[in-house]
Amino acid sequence: MCGIVGYVGRHAATPVLLGGLRRLEYRGYDSAGLSVQDGKELLTLRAVGKVSRLADKVRAEWPEELQTRRVVGIAHTRWATHGAPTEANAHPHADASGRIRLVHNGIIENYRAIRAKLEAKGHVFASETDTEAVARLVGEYYKGDLRKAVIAALRQVEGAYGIAVISADEPGRIIVARKGSPLVIGVGEGECLIASDPSALISHTRRVIYLDDGDVALVTADSVDITDLNHAPMDRDVAELEFEPGAVEKGGYDHFMLKEIHEQPESVRNALRGRLDLLNGTAVLSGMGTGARELLDLQRIVMVGCGTSLHAGMVGDFAFEELAALPAEVQPAAEFRYRNPLVDGRDLVVAISQSGETADTLAAVREAKDKGAMIMGLVNVVGSTIARETGRGVYLHAGPEISVASTKAFTGQVAVLLLMALKLGRGRRLSRERGLALAAEIARLPELIEAVLRQDAAIAKVAESMAKHEHAFFLGRGPMHPVALEGALKLKEISYIHAEGYHAAELKHGPIALLTPGMPVVVLANRSPVVDKTLGNAEECKARGARIIAIVTEGGPVAAIADDVIQIPDCDPLVATIPAAVALQLLAYHVARLRGCPIDQPRNLAKSVTVE
Ligand code: G6P
Repeated sequence: MCGIVGYVGRHAATPVLLGGLRRLEYRGYDSAGLSVQDGKELLTLRAVGKVSRLADKVRAEWPEELQTRRVVGIAHTRWATHGAPTEANAHPHADASGRIRLVHNGIIENYRAIRAKLEAKGHVFASETDTEAVARLVGEYYKGDLRKAVIAALRQVEGAYGIAVISADEPGRIIVARKGSPLVIGVGEGECLIASDPSALISHTRRVIYLDDGDVALVTADSVDITDLNHAPMDRDVAELEFEPGAVEKGGYDHFMLKEIHEQPESVRNALRGRLDLLNGTAVLSGMGTGARELLDLQRIVMVGCGTSLHAGMVGDFAFEELAALPAEVQPAAEFRYRNPLVDGRDLVVAISQSGETADTLAAVREAKDKGAMIMGLVNVVGSTIARETGRGVYLHAGPEISVASTKAFTGQVAVLLLMALKLGRGRRLSRERGLALAAEIARLPELIEAVLRQDAAIAKVAESMAKHEHAFFLGRGPMHPVALEGALKLKEISYIHAEGYHAAELKHGPIALLTPGMPVVVLANRSPVVDKTLGNAEECKARGARIIAIVTEGGPVAAIADDVIQIPDCDPLVATIPAAVALQLLAYHVARLRGCPIDQPRNLAKSVTVE
């Protein structure tokens, strides 16, 4: 979604800002803009479409000398919410004098009231955005101290924001503030950067300060001064970013998605590192913080998440019930707080999120906290809001996931959920033998994934026939049902083929009416107690002329009915969800590639959805 970059320091700001915006492109956006302060005035350019169009505009309209002069600046990529993606709606927005510019992520809920008040005072708005109301409000309060004006304005504002503001009259300063929308300050040598996502600043510095909700910071080239909205000073630690700058490069792959698919043996290895106890058949997850007593007292696990993370939770649901004999459920995070959820102190609520910033998941965490439940985060991005607000949890250690379509985060989430279920199981009723066997299976995950990756070329061949269709079904049972949902989601997201995931037995209760001859039906038919039933469901489709693409266990009964077969190594049915998901990721990737789709940044999608 929207992205923010800011720069103040010893280098020219414009190339740093444009470079930062390029790093944020993966988040999904539809227009971009930047403002720079060159001592006496502010200069602003905005463009609809890609950052490259903004860069062209900079080259065409700003003299070279300005592009390389040392200036302070802020920049933004906008994912439209209030008003269409037009140049007028793009950020940075100005106050009435035009001497203040502001970029904003999030949503200002009372912007209509602020706008009406300002219009009554004679303001003429230039855009349809909620953001412009804040920019104008800052201008209203400006009496020579930008930080004071920003604080006065923010005290009027309801909603979520991460903002960065500069003024023509205060060279060398950026004011930033956050409430509900992430902002991080990169602290370099004689320079500071601001970003909504650390990947925009990793090539400049690894030392960062994460702002907390309610923080307002005055940032100069060599100082960061943080207060709250009452002007009281706040102390924030400087943290070290974990990942390498190379982690946000394509590294020879055509797309980030393909790179991330191929990273999975390593990312899953990282998720498992130091956490599997192969001698006792359990897992060591210190971040869970659950002692033996607490484990026995647990009465239920509730997982919340959105999109792919929700699907990972659905696999976890099977694992918790089967291994730990714990009632488990998964709820779309967007629904959780509005249904007045039934949770209490003996329930463990697990918030699953790659980014750790998804607005609905965060809201669910806060609701569960208010209700007194135990909370845990299962998050990839270190230092993200959900990671910090949950207080305890398990990181995925998958490294930055740049492609909008989530791949390595999903397999990392499922791997960690399996570890959690193993640990809870062993603390409750899972036998040592079963624990040992499962731990050994989980330890094989990197090699299981590698076995699927070796079939890349064969899967690309299967994709050829699929790419010609506009509809597809994905079927599975048990823990493979959520994998079917995830496979369908991957295909929809990046190839724009209409795909539906179903429980294999549910197809005949309606959706089968949509089957036409030749329609691809992907059937997850790995070794499991119900594989024969699944094959029966595949037969029903075949009888109606569907083209069956079967994901089967190596050496197992290959469905004679299958038109195409993708094999996964023989393994425990819960563990098999991971290699099966990898096969479906590759299938979706190759279909999208054959259809010429913009794989890493599909239309309308955002990597991190920070609005409800
Ligand atoms: C967006 C992304 C999805 C992701 C979902 C949840 O819709 O496009 O890929 O699964 O958000 O994101 P999270 O960061 O909370 O896992």
